[in-house]
Amino acid sequence: MSDLVLTSDDGPVRTIRMNRPEKKNALTMAMYDAMAAGIETAPAANVRCLLIGGAPTVFCAGNDIGDFLQAAMSGGALGAPILRFLYALARCDIPLVAAVQGNAVGVGTTMLMHCDHVVASTEARFSTPFVSLGLVPEAASSLIAPRLMGHARAFSLLVMGKPLPADEAKAAGLINTVVAADAVEAEAMKAAQAIAALPPQAVLASRRLMRGNSDEIVARIDAEAVEFKARLQSAEAQAAFTAFMTRKR
Ligand code: COA
Repeated sequence: MSDLVLTSDDGPVRTIRMNRPEKKNALTMAMYDAMAAGIETAPAANVRCLLIGGAPTVFCAGNDIGDFLQAAMSGGALGAPILRFLYALARCDIPLVAAVQGNAVGVGTTMLMHCDHVVASTEARFSTPFVSLGLVPEAASSLIAPRLMGHARAFSLLVMGKPLPADEAKAAGLINTVVAADAVEAEAMKAAQAIAALPPQAVLASRRLMRGNSDEIVARIDAEAVEFKARLQSAEAQAAFTAFMTRKR
């Protein structure tokens, strides 16, 4: 397992932490694989709640844009590790909690749509600039976001790329709690431990009933991936990736 993702168990709670702060926790293929493995192996380790965390200054800047550029140049698609991670989220039976500080961009935001309880800091910011990168939404967000927050707010987030500050993300139903940055981790762990202390079979059954059939989510992930592959090859996407990677600051 890569040290760019740190996985640790504290009793029945497993923390999966993105750990590439110098690149704002932009996700590489190895990181997706490590995060997927942390989710997939949880049931056998008697984990009752998963906690996804980032760094004190940033949750996740989305997919590594250099990887996108490479995939675009080589005629590639959404990489297998990305799909493995998205399937793991969609098929996960165990409750997912997230602790968000700073920016949550792209998949940093869409992964939260698979979580059951999200704690964020007052300055957290949620954005999905897929379309301005010439791409389409992923992680079944095109299905989940309109259900969660209604079409108009989902369109603003997913298509217009308008960021949601923490208070608006809470009003939209994307997150549960907004606390000071230095309280995020403790608050999220408290929620995870509370969930883990509930009767586990009743939690699993209730969650399954609430989430419905994961096949529908997986089918949307697949449909988005087909569109995403086509968009990756587009001139507008390649120009946007190159502009980011060569920007002057
Ligand atoms: N892919 C690759 N590298 C990334 C990255 C990404 N998604 N996000 C940040 N980085 C890198 C930067 O290139 C920079 O690298 P360098 O120090 O080698 O130059 C480093 O991380 C720090 O990023 P920087 O932009 O200087 O930090 P910031 O605090 O000013 O801004 C963000 C943070 C997240 C707002 C900004 O980095 C950003 O917009 N990233 C792209 C997000 C994105 O579009 N993701 C894809 C979604 S589909």
